[in-house]
Amino acid sequence: MQKQFTIASPNSTEHIKEINNLLTHELRDSGLKWRYEEEYPLLLSPTTHQQSTCVFHDNEVAAHANLFPRKLIHASGQKSFNIGLIGNVATSKKYQRQGLQYKLMEHLEKTALLQNVDALILWSDLYEFYQKLGFASTGREIRYMFARNPNAQSSSLDLQDVEELSDCELLQMLSMRPKMEWNLERSTSDFAKLLTIPNTSLYTSKKNQKISSFYIVGKGSDMQGVIHEWGTNDRLRLMHDIRSIILQTHLEGVQLLAPINLPSSFKQVFDTWATSKEEHSMCWAKPIGLNGIAAIKAIASSFIWGLDSI
Ligand SMILES: CC(C)(COP(=O)(O)OP(=O)(O)OC[C@H]1O[C@@H](n2cnc3c(N)ncnc32)[C@H](O)[C@@H]1OP(=O)(O)O)[C@@H](O)C(=O)NCCC(=O)NCCS
Repeated sequence: MQKQFTIASPNSTEHIKEINNLLTHELRDSGLKWRYEEEYPLLLSPTTHQQSTCVFHDNEVAAHANLFPRKLIHASGQKSFNIGLIGNVATSKKYQRQGLQYKLMEHLEKTALLQNVDALILWSDLYEFYQKLGFASTGREIRYMFARNPNAQSSSLDLQDVEELSDCELLQMLSMRPKMEWNLERSTSDFAKLLTIPNTSLYTSKKNQKISSFYIVGKGSDMQGVIHEWGTNDRLRLMHDIRSIILQTHLEGVQLLAPINLPSSFKQVFDTWATSKEEHSMCWAKPIGLNGIAAIKAIASSFIWGLDSI
């Protein structure tokens, strides 16, 4: 790399402003109705910029990426891996194709190794680019499509005010998701912050005033019309609830994301009622460090729910 480029964390409000401008320009269409950083409350808030790394050209932000260390925990609670989520990857137009992301990713990989991270994961359509950087498709997910049913009736499903949720309710929702062998750890305070992302709707149904099912639709500019995180204690309600979401959102249909190894009782319901289904890659991952290969296997046996992808 030429001498005038340096890699460092942002250290001024001017840098933070520049990062947000760069990400808005490179990763969003014009006319965004909120500030880009509102879509990433755990990464781009004024207090979390230690997870940002930039390539600077003199004092100008030329490229940016986030490295977000998380824990992947076995259902037994006895084993875990450190996983580094990579996101908000962008190079300013005038600096693209000069090898800056190569250098930045190399730097993030070294940083991740120092933090005992076992594998990196990310989500992107730029397969060619990430393959060159050593990432491979990891895990599978199913996308079920549900069409509007003209005879459907609204169930007692409500749009939930996220400000009113107690810690206990947030915990309940996390535990209601279909059980996986490996799960990405998420605190209730992080869950509450993630629910404030613009264009994110949480629908809940209640039994004896306790949440018995929940469905999260949309997330910022992503996943509109997609139920990307959900859980229920009452499988018999599932189809009723999904139809009710279609009615309430005035959509022609919704998509629901589910793990490939979903318990068969759920699969039966979805296979009966979905209009179609597709299988896709869940994420892109790269083993690093001594436990890398084992960590990749664990990722493939997990399901990364929508609010966790960056
Ligand atoms: C994609 C992007 C981050 C690449 O950054 P960059 O600094 O230009 O990348 P580099 O110059 O380090 O390129 C690394 C390699 O990837 C290739 N590459 C770069 N951009 C690519 C793209 N859009 N598609 C496929 N390959 C690409 C380069 O040719 C190079 O490979 P080579 O050495 O074999 O020629 C940048 O173009 C960008 O910000 N695009 C818009 C935002 C975006 O799409 N971000 C990714 C979101 S996941």
